[in-house]
Amino acid sequence: MNTQRLMNTAKALVADDKGLLAMDESNPTCNRRFAKLGIPQTEEMHRTYRELIVTTPGLSESISGAILYDETIRQRKNDGTPFATSLADAGIIPGIKVDTGAKDLAGHSGEKITEGLDGLRDRLAEYSQMGARFAKWRAVIAIGEGIPTRGCIEANANALARYAALCQEAGLVPVVEPEVVMDGGHTIERCCEVTEEVQRTVFSQLYKQGVMLEGVILKPNMVLPGSTCPKQETVEEVADATVRCLLRSVPAAVPGIAFLSGGQSAELASARLNAMNVRFKARLPWALAFSFARAIQQPALEIWRGQEANALAAQRALCHRAKCNRAARRGEYNAGMEDYLHAKQVGVLCQ
Ligand code: 13P
Repeated sequence: MNTQRLMNTAKALVADDKGLLAMDESNPTCNRRFAKLGIPQTEEMHRTYRELIVTTPGLSESISGAILYDETIRQRKNDGTPFATSLADAGIIPGIKVDTGAKDLAGHSGEKITEGLDGLRDRLAEYSQMGARFAKWRAVIAIGEGIPTRGCIEANANALARYAALCQEAGLVPVVEPEVVMDGGHTIERCCEVTEEVQRTVFSQLYKQGVMLEGVILKPNMVLPGSTCPKQETVEEVADATVRCLLRSVPAAVPGIAFLSGGQSAELASARLNAMNVRFKARLPWALAFSFARAIQQPALEIWRGQEANALAAQRALCHRAKCNRAARRGEYNAGMEDYLHAKQVGVLCQ
C-alpha cells in the first residue's frame, strides 16, 4: 500500500477550500432526473450532459475532484478525449462510484444493503488504469418505526470497510459514504442519535479491516430533521447538531469530511455548510467540505433541459453553485450571493 500517495490524494481532495462534485448518478437515477425535465433518457444524452459538466469553464477553481459513474468514465468528449483525462487536464481529480446499488436487506423490512464487493479488486484495478484516484461507496440507512436495526447498520458498515480496504490496496482513496436519509417525520435529535451510532460502527469496522484513516474521506449526511418533521431547525441549529455529532464519532486522523446534500435545496446546503465553518472551522481536526450532486447540479440541469442553446447558461449555474460552496467552506457564503447582480459584482458568478 502506497501510504504517502493515499494521504496526499486525500489531502488534495479537501485542499484550498474546494470540494467534490458528485456526477456519478447511476443510469436509473440519471434517467429519473432527465424524465422529470423531459430530457431523452439515452446514453448519448447522458454523455452530452456529462460533457457539459466537465467542460464548464472555471470549475476547477472550486472543485478538487469529480466522481464519475461506470458508463461515464468510459465516455469521451466530442473531440475524443476521455472524461477522466479531460478532468485531470483541468486540475480536477477523477474518482469513480464503485458500489452497484442498495438492495433490499433480507429479513429486514424497509432496510437496504449496498452491493458491489464481488469482483471489486479487479474493477478497482481497471478504474485505476483509466485514471481514477479515488472511489465512492454509498450505504443507505433509513429512519422509521423500529429502524435502523443493528443488523442493517453492521452489515453496511462491514461492506463499507471491506470496500475501503480494497480501495487502499489498489491505491485509491475511499470516500466512505454512510447516508442516513432525511425522508420521514423524525426529529433532528433522532437523526443525531442514528448518525452517531452509524459513524461509530463504521469507524469500528474500518479499524477492524485495517483501513488507514489518514487516507480516507468521510461523506456523511448533515444532521437534519426528517423532511416531513413539523419542527425544522434553523441553519445554526443544524450546524451545531452536525458538528457535535461528528466530534463524538469521527476520529481526528480523518483529513476531511465532505457532506452529501441528500435532497436539501442547493441554497440550504450551502448555508448550513457555511454556518458550520463560521462557527467551528478554527477548532476542528478535519476539514468540513462538500461532495454534492443535486445541490451543485440541479439548477444547471433545470436550465439545460437537454437543449444545446441552454448549455452556456447551465454551465454558468453549475460554476456559480460550486463557487458558493467554496465560499461556504471559507465561512464567506451569504444569501446575497444568490442574487444575480450582486454575485456578478463580487465575482461569484462565472463568466
Ligand atoms: P446528493 O448530494 O444529491 O445527495 O448526492 C450525493 C451522492 O453522491 C449520493 O451518493
